[in-house]
Amino acid sequence: MLKNKNIILGVCGSIAAYKSAFLVRLLVKAGANVKVILTPDGANFITPLTLATLSKNPVYTQYFEEETGVWSNHVELGLWADLIIIAPISANTLAKLATGICDNLLTAIYLSAKCPVYVAPAMDLDMWKHESTQNNIEKISSYGNTVISPGSGELASGLYGEGRMAEPEDIITFLEQILKESLPLYGKNVMVTAGPTYEAIDPVRFIGNHSSGKMGFALANELAKLGANITLITGPTALKASTELKRIDVVSADEMLNACSSIFPEIDITVMCAAVADYRPKVVATEKIKKNDNELLLELEKTVDILASLGREKKANQILVGFALETNDEENYAKGKLEKKNLDLVILNSLNDKGAGFKSDTNKITIFNKALERTVFEMKSKTEVAKDICAAILNISK
Ligand code: CTP
Repeated sequence: MLKNKNIILGVCGSIAAYKSAFLVRLLVKAGANVKVILTPDGANFITPLTLATLSKNPVYTQYFEEETGVWSNHVELGLWADLIIIAPISANTLAKLATGICDNLLTAIYLSAKCPVYVAPAMDLDMWKHESTQNNIEKISSYGNTVISPGSGELASGLYGEGRMAEPEDIITFLEQILKESLPLYGKNVMVTAGPTYEAIDPVRFIGNHSSGKMGFALANELAKLGANITLITGPTALKASTELKRIDVVSADEMLNACSSIFPEIDITVMCAAVADYRPKVVATEKIKKNDNELLLELEKTVDILASLGREKKANQILVGFALETNDEENYAKGKLEKKNLDLVILNSLNDKGAGFKSDTNKITIFNKALERTVFEMKSKTEVAKDICAAILNISK
């Protein structure tokens, strides 16, 4: 959740400033870009060198660094940040945030920033309990800032009670949970199918197709980034899925049907990307077929159209997305599938577009919604195509 996020960590004058070193380490480990702003008093508790080394970035304390002659632009820093954490925040800085006092770099950045701000107070029990501190907490919360409540325990003053800054590990868990909950598909159960199916002829042969699974895997990854709980049901493929995804491996159309149908009632959004075999051998030979004859005739029977059967079961609050891979009269066939299979979106790939379809790393799609409105996209990488499909899904899931 914190990967590649730009984070400003403000550190104020409090003994808990030593914990900010651990916090920086954990943020950097989680993949965040961290810039630390020390208040002048904060610099009495922890050295800029420690925080600069851990964050791998210069530490800022003043607008104007006399030694270097560098002016730190608070507006730029504020706009750079995806989120600001002030941990520890002292009673003094808390009061400044509540009243808009802006007498150092950190408070100026706070006023310039447009991103979410989280504060983790640390102070002595009596300072924390004081009415003015509690009023300031209420005030800054009413501005939309989030307070990460202090814990109870032995305080540096020797008193025992509330006022200890939340532990760095707990701050990270808190931030990750809040970021997760803010994702648009948080809490949604999403099923994605991918890859080919193999229909056995005998113990060593099968009917299959060239699907690599790349489009379905890319979709599962992008939907997961939007906060959904993903179940990826995939036919045979060499691709590896991220460990965050629940993966169910199947071989035949029948196995895919069973896997999909058993979880469909709990699913909010289904994207059927798999290239499911339309026909399978009517009889599967139990022994390897010998080449005794000049000709071999295989009798095939239709498999169940999984997408169409889910379309019949679909409830009003479920979203169903299907693909249409066509070679001629593409748009009419795609629109026909949308209506016949009761879909909310159909994604058309034409095999006439070079670089679209099986195996390649690119795809070119056209999306039709229920109103048969058409959106045509350029040729893109499958990851970018997956993002376009996600955007179309978000558009109808509002
Ligand atoms: N599909 C499915 N079960 C099948 C066949 C297809 O769920 N037995 C799904 C695919 O996952 C895809 C959509 O149906 O989302 C369309 O697949 P496609 O092969 O383009 O079309 P078909 O419906 O099979 O029709 P046709 O082969 O006649 O074009």
